[in-house]
Amino acid sequence: MKAIVQEGYGSPDTLKLREIETPAPGDHGVLVEVHAASVNALDWHVARGVPFFIPLLEAITAPKHRVRGVDLAGRVTAVGKNVTRLKPGDDVLGSADGSFAEFTVTTEKRLVLKPAGVTFEQAATLNVAGLTALQGLRDRARVRAAQRVLVNGAGGGVGTFAVQIAKWLGAHVTAVTRAASVALVRSLGADEVIDHDAEDFTRRGERWDVIFDIGGLQPFSRCRRVMQPEGILLAIGGPAGRWLAPADRLLEALMLSALSRRPRVVPFVAKSVSEDLALLAGLVERGTITPVIERRFALRETAEAVRLLGAGRARGKIVINTR
Ligand SMILES: NC(=O)c1ccc[n+]([C@@H]2O[C@H](COP(=O)([O-])OP(=O)(O)OC[C@H]3O[C@@H](n4cnc5c(N)ncnc54)[C@H](OP(=O)(O)O)[C@@H]3O)[C@@H](O)[C@H]2O)c1
Repeated sequence: MKAIVQEGYGSPDTLKLREIETPAPGDHGVLVEVHAASVNALDWHVARGVPFFIPLLEAITAPKHRVRGVDLAGRVTAVGKNVTRLKPGDDVLGSADGSFAEFTVTTEKRLVLKPAGVTFEQAATLNVAGLTALQGLRDRARVRAAQRVLVNGAGGGVGTFAVQIAKWLGAHVTAVTRAASVALVRSLGADEVIDHDAEDFTRRGERWDVIFDIGGLQPFSRCRRVMQPEGILLAIGGPAGRWLAPADRLLEALMLSALSRRPRVVPFVAKSVSEDLALLAGLVERGTITPVIERRFALRETAEAVRLLGAGRARGKIVINTR
């Protein structure tokens, strides 16, 4: 089968299209014929080998093939004898270690059935970005109706989901994005949109209950001044750097959260939860949220897709069509 294998670290140029053996599901695995995958910031960080602990971890685990990609949607073609919930022919969405490939093996707890009304491309966008927005806003920030939520960096993969999910939870949403994404973000339901190239939201004289901070550029001290005393800032991401970034932003938030001062600043990292994936797929099927797909690439163009994401100019999600 064809797969995108990472050879070395440094840039998306390390992502090569290679012919490798199709994996077997074993007793516990599910073999999925991948129809679509989507690109996350994680794929770009891993291609660069930054934060520095990524190459260290991979040196220890030494995978046979470094097939890249996490998010996927596709069709089950074989299952191991201990798999009970899925069968060949089922259309699924979820995650795998290596979704930029024609086939991948994963476990059934990382997959849910794809509703018929959701396309493979839409389904492939939901795992990392959708779960981060859903779990961060609903579970960690516990957003309630009429609360004021600010999404800082609303135009990217996570941000376009965060705006829609905050609206679904009943919040008043202020979206902070680049000029080129203002109209898009407004069309997703944001009540107010701030162009971050023209205005700094921390100098507006307004206050928010929740800041969902994807951009990670403003110092936390300035953000806290524009939060309600009982408010919460979720540190999701930040600009890339040479050694630790964007993990440094989350580590700083972790240290601040340990001091437990109000308003709170906490790091947030999403988890793979199949019930949440199924919920997201249902929201898409009902038209409550709509994945924003900026561009589609063929499998052989994956390096270009990851480079586009790394340039930080993508609007919504970037999808890889693997067939
Ligand atoms: N904690 C987690 O579980 C988790 C999960 C997924 C991703 N992340 C992190 O979240 C970030 C975004 O990931 P992604 O996959 O959505 O990537 P992406 O699609 O490339 O998004 C990049 C984001 O950076 C924002 N940004 C760039 N310049 C900005 C500025 N000056 N002010 C505010 N925002 C700015 C963009 O907002 P505009 O386009 O609106 O300018 C956009 O939302 C990355 O740092 C990633 O590592 C964390």
